[in-house]
Amino acid sequence: MPVNDSTRVGGEMPPVFEGLEDEQGWEEPEAYRGSVGRTLFDTKESRDNTVCVILPKRELGNVPSQSLVRIKSLEDGRSYVGVVTAGPFAEPDGIRGDTPLMVTTAARGATFLPNYHGRVEVEILGEENDGHLTPPRWRPRPNSRVFLLKEDEARRILKAEGDIALGRCVGYEMTVSVPSDRKDVLPRHTAVLGTTGSGKSTTIGTLVMQAQKAGMAVVILDVEGEYTAICDPATDPGMLAALRARGLSPEGVANTTLYHLVGRETMNPSHPDRRQFCLSFSNLSPYTVCEIMGLSEPQEMRFFQAYDVLKGLLSSLKIFPRGPADEAATLEIDEMERGYPGMTLSLLTDVVGAFLAQVSKTPETFSPYNPLLEENRDALMAAVGAVKADHPSSWRALLSKLWKIHRTRVFDNPAAEPIDYSALTEPGRVSIIDLSDTNSPILNNLVISDILGGILEAQDRAYQEGQREGRAEGSSAAAASPAVLWGAPHPTGRPVTGQSIPPRRTLVIIEEAHEFLSKDRISQMPNVFQQVARIARRGRKRWLGLVFVSQLPQHLPREILGLVNNFILHKITDTGVIDELSRVIAGVDASMWRKLPTLAPGQAVVSFGHMVRPVLTAIDPARCRLRMVG
Ligand SMILES: Nc1ncnc2c1ncn2[C@@H]1O[C@H](COP(=O)(O)OP(=O)(O)OP(=O)(O)O)[C@@H](O)[C@H]1O
Ligand SMILES: [Mg+2]
Repeated sequence: MPVNDSTRVGGEMPPVFEGLEDEQGWEEPEAYRGSVGRTLFDTKESRDNTVCVILPKRELGNVPSQSLVRIKSLEDGRSYVGVVTAGPFAEPDGIRGDTPLMVTTAARGATFLPNYHGRVEVEILGEENDGHLTPPRWRPRPNSRVFLLKEDEARRILKAEGDIALGRCVGYEMTVSVPSDRKDVLPRHTAVLGTTGSGKSTTIGTLVMQAQKAGMAVVILDVEGEYTAICDPATDPGMLAALRARGLSPEGVANTTLYHLVGRETMNPSHPDRRQFCLSFSNLSPYTVCEIMGLSEPQEMRFFQAYDVLKGLLSSLKIFPRGPADEAATLEIDEMERGYPGMTLSLLTDVVGAFLAQVSKTPETFSPYNPLLEENRDALMAAVGAVKADHPSSWRALLSKLWKIHRTRVFDNPAAEPIDYSALTEPGRVSIIDLSDTNSPILNNLVISDILGGILEAQDRAYQEGQREGRAEGSSAAAASPAVLWGAPHPTGRPVTGQSIPPRRTLVIIEEAHEFLSKDRISQMPNVFQQVARIARRGRKRWLGLVFVSQLPQHLPREILGLVNNFILHKITDTGVIDELSRVIAGVDASMWRKLPTLAPGQAVVSFGHMVRPVLTAIDPARCRLRMVG
């Protein structure tokens, strides 16, 4: 029953104050039971999509910022869902909080505490129709009832549900989760940004553990070796205290493998499944190699002269192609993505050496390092001599750059195997690529580029096999029952008899992403950027999600942020950086941007593309052990 029901007019009180008689005899009308507050009339300060809600004093503690509320308009019967974006503020009944009387009594040390009530600002998220939120077309009328939503309902409405729990909403009892089984979420790529010490690695620790438990494959490109001990439970006293406070126990991540480059150290030599790996030169696109090595234009031209001569030799020596099947494969090689089979950095360095000897007019002094070329020296020199070449200094510079990489012995080193990418994408497998001892951004970038390309290929292959076997999403079996897709985890990825296996969902985490893809260098690395863009685009279809982690988001090219749909924003203090990000990242409102400089370590604005609005979240402390570095 509305409070201004004229039958309840009491005594001499003017009709406008009906319902405000002494509280003892007054009973809340039935329709308002359970509500925490009411909307007010609009004022000149009112803005579209926000309403002011007045709360009785007893509800002040129950409606914290970020609470979700349902607003039921009595007059027109409409129902809205909104979120508290400011307040709760306390205001004295009947007078303004800043009247001279209030200020003076407080300043003089006297106590004068009139009755008071609460006020919150609510942003309308939508109008409820048949359980769905639609864009609001009207505003709640004055005196609408405001109810607090229960945790489950709030999570469902915000779409903060899923099997990967990230943490708890700040100020409001709600777990914030994302789903591993929706193609429009993690495969739309994520950026984790924040200044140093803001909690990015802890967030990644939590994400990795949860993704692993959800049966995803996770690959971490670990530039500093922070994640090399995540197989162990957390030991840091601060983290242990945070875990206790959150009711969580320390636990290592299951199923981890630690990879490090052959001949390089690892931060965790005692990891139970540690493997050395080498890079395979033939996996890398020659264009990518040129860019990452920072070759000048003349050097690049000479690189390709040598590359083509070597291709011709490999072909005439029947190393590749070896037969008709290989010849067909040759046509499919896209040199923007991958290199030429059989090609090694060592062979290429030899060919460049032969060119240098040739243009220096001392061909007789050259002796190849590779037995293959030594045995076929005449063919090599003939092929080199047939190319119009000059400028020894440029050849020398190229040779020196190739030699620097070659000397690291990480390419095609028989002491280690290249990484088996198919193994990296096995469901539930966590692979840490420890790059802490490379001491070379060039080497790191070559590894990252190689691994990204390899994973996409493996993911592509698994996807196509899945399509052929009719088990990927879109197949009739999967359409009939989503459980066919996600029912049971298959840690080995092998089918159980009579049961279909789900497509492989993979997450690739790139730490210090601004070092791999920096704004300054993006114009000099168009092919590397194109490779990442291609992976990002194809990844959406192939269940491959990239996670870019960076403490210097201002150094990340806009193009990269443009590929990303989901953001976990930790503390950022630089207002210039916040301004710039706010122009690129959609869906985060001004009130959330304003919060960024004051966030505590571990707090973050979680803004995923599929969510209704961003949620300020206290990210769960990491249960696994992170190494302190730096
Ligand atoms: N979710 C969290 N819960 C509790 N404490 C946290 C959380 N996140 C971060 N912290 C605290 O903040 C510290 C720094 O966190 P973390 O190493 O994750 O930051 P970072 O952003 O990765 O820093 P850097 O840029 O230096 O790598 C942690 O050691 C821990 O004490
Ligand atoms: Mg870190």
